[in-house]
Amino acid sequence: MRAITTVPPSGGITLSQLDLEKGDGVKVRTLFTGICGTDKEIALGKLSFARPEKGRSLVLGHEAVGVVDDSSGYSSFKEGDIVVPMVRRPGGCRMCRLGRQDFCEDGDFVEAGIRGKNGFMREEFLEDPRFLVKVDDPSTVNLAVLTEPLKNVMKIKETFQFLRGRIPWYCQDSTLSCKNLYVFGTGTEGLLISMVFKSLGMNVVEVNRHPLGENIMKFLDDNRISYIDTSSERLDIKVRDMSMDAAIDAVGAMDVLKEITDNISNNGIAIMFGTSGQMPSSTFDILERVVDRNVTVVGSVDGAKIHYSEAIDFIETHGKTMHMDRIITGKYSPEDLKIFTEKEKEEIKKVIAWS
Ligand code: BGC
Ligand code: ZN
Repeated sequence: MRAITTVPPSGGITLSQLDLEKGDGVKVRTLFTGICGTDKEIALGKLSFARPEKGRSLVLGHEAVGVVDDSSGYSSFKEGDIVVPMVRRPGGCRMCRLGRQDFCEDGDFVEAGIRGKNGFMREEFLEDPRFLVKVDDPSTVNLAVLTEPLKNVMKIKETFQFLRGRIPWYCQDSTLSCKNLYVFGTGTEGLLISMVFKSLGMNVVEVNRHPLGENIMKFLDDNRISYIDTSSERLDIKVRDMSMDAAIDAVGAMDVLKEITDNISNNGIAIMFGTSGQMPSSTFDILERVVDRNVTVVGSVDGAKIHYSEAIDFIETHGKTMHMDRIITGKYSPEDLKIFTEKEKEEIKKVIAWS
């Protein structure tokens, strides 16, 4: 079968021929796989923790949706079921044994398509049924490829709900309608975060440092999400009219943390999701602002099985009405390897169709 492979940590991208692995598991035929920043970094040899399962090469791909071809006697699935595989697989620590490998204590986990386990950019794969999540509504199969990035957002939402409980962090009518959230970054994760928090009833402002294309602008408009381009408008002035009660970073540049701590309200909640980049020069200044004004800053990575299920529910409930299909800006064949290195105009999420 065709498979897209790389050689970590040096990178590269090849269309290879592979056999299906031997062993137990549900046989899944891949329908769609998404490409994200993590995949591109692995392909460019920039992700230091990328490593193969065995041998030298790694099958890429951690965002996938497929269909069960052979349930191999496992009663939890039947042929024809639409399924999403999980990325992170547990090691032996206490959190991993509780099914919360997203909070792994010692780093002894593997991640499909990223570190220590082959991913899903191949025509079929054998999967342990414990790590498959079922999609109930077949009409959402095209959007279900967004389940994996969306599960990260469901964990961010859970973290946010937990943190805001430290004080009565709601409006006089007991909703969140007076609270403003600034989301940094307009890639797939940024847009999914905006959608989910909009659905909680907050006012959402997307922040980026360049003008946006028509497609994203329309998506934001339709969902009543506002936008500020900080290359032409000042964030501190915007914040004077519309306070920054919470902020979520999906950029992965550490200087965004400074922009947040400079502008966030007292008792604000800042969730950092993006990674990499450099530490800002005035770290002390940032710390002082966080401490003195009771700002909560928290990091969040990955998500648990429950977050995959919540992501599937969110897609079923809001996918169509919130125009989630606009996030998928291109469908390609596995032969189109240049999609890993070339950026299309107005690209958000590129998807590979396997059949
Ligand atoms: C995935 C996460 C994963 C992280 C780090 C992200 O692209 O969505 O599940 O934990 O990469 O490897
Ligand atoms: Zn990803």
